[in-house]
Amino acid sequence: MRLIAFALIALATTGALAQELEPARVPVDRDAIDAAWSQAYQDHLDSGNPIPFTPPTIADIPDTEFGEMVRDGMQAFNNPAIYARDYVGNQLACSNCHLDSGRRPFAAPMWGAYPVYPKFRSKNHQVNTMEMRVQGCFRYSMNGTPPPADSNLMKSYMAYFAWLSQGAPIGIRPKGASFYKLDDPLETASIERGAEAYEQYCQTCHQSDGQGIKHTGRPGYQFPPLWGPNSYNWGAGMHSPSKAAAFIKRNMPFGLMNVLTDQQAWDIAYFMNSHERPQDPRFKGDIQETRAKFHKGKHNLYGVEVNGQVLGEAAY
Ligand code: HEC
Ligand code: HEC
Repeated sequence: MRLIAFALIALATTGALAQELEPARVPVDRDAIDAAWSQAYQDHLDSGNPIPFTPPTIADIPDTEFGEMVRDGMQAFNNPAIYARDYVGNQLACSNCHLDSGRRPFAAPMWGAYPVYPKFRSKNHQVNTMEMRVQGCFRYSMNGTPPPADSNLMKSYMAYFAWLSQGAPIGIRPKGASFYKLDDPLETASIERGAEAYEQYCQTCHQSDGQGIKHTGRPGYQFPPLWGPNSYNWGAGMHSPSKAAAFIKRNMPFGLMNVLTDQQAWDIAYFMNSHERPQDPRFKGDIQETRAKFHKGKHNLYGVEVNGQVLGEAAY
């Protein structure tokens, strides 16, 4: 299985071949990729340096009223465009970024988050609950409206996260929580180099215009968009090249781990986030003021001029 998936990915990412194939027909087998990842995960567990916590499997969800709520939460996590449709502004799924239904280590798994909230965050200078964190992802990553903290939807997310986290230590982030830690790039990140690497490693699935490929017959994406009007907005965590590089390095191309060099991950993250996307909802009419308040980081491209265009000025 593992070999098959690697062959598929190799196919999908070999530049020359990819160009000959109709992108939508590239035979990406999600089951094979998941199987390959499970194998890689097993290898990792066997490596003597394992991730100390493994969440329960979906088959373990109890047949109780609580289990029912856990299942609702999982559904709304994997298909918010259906189960949380009143609150979403795009058709991304939480699980497009929090991979494997929020289980996969180094893709900000929910079992790595739940045990450390409530927690102070400098992003909004206050103590945040887990509910506030979910509301944040609705506002920025989903470009939508936060669901109320006491809604059934929120209750179902919390039930799912609590269930996933059972047995995890409280108050610490286990290894595998959040993202892979990536050092600053050795060379200044380059949007031009990133564009070339994107063509080679990402384009077959996410497309040359970055708009991905939708599911047929249901909302959501087979390959989610990386920029443009249907992507996460300028306030989302993923818009920051340092977060994006850390995500990409470990998790993309999908199904493979650590194929890209750190430099490539940085270059691609810069390229990806040098395109317009929906406006930061905290924007009050002045790009530079918004940058000064919320986008000061040295790798942050909001308000920076790229190819004669100040990013954020033509936001959707
Ligand atoms: C476009 C990608 C993306 C989507 C879609 C997305 N998130 Fe996130 N989410 C992030 C990023 C990036 C972070 C920040 C992770 C970090 O800094 O470690 C994050 C953080 C979080 C956290 C805090 C994690 C932690 O370790 O502290 C929670 C909880 C969360 N998201 C829930 C959700 C939920 C629920 C949804 C769907 C309604 C969702 N996210 C959709 C990218 C996304
Ligand atoms: C084999 C197909 C494939 C390739 C190649 C691939 N991706 Fe992805 N990517 C996916 C899929 C599928 C998801 C959503 C995962 C899920 O829902 O389980 C995803 C999710 C993402 C996300 C988070 C969701 C979003 O829309 O923002 C980012 C960012 C991303 N990919 C960037 C990249 C980059 C950069 C590359 C090239 C280094 C790349 N991907 C290569 C299939 C692919």
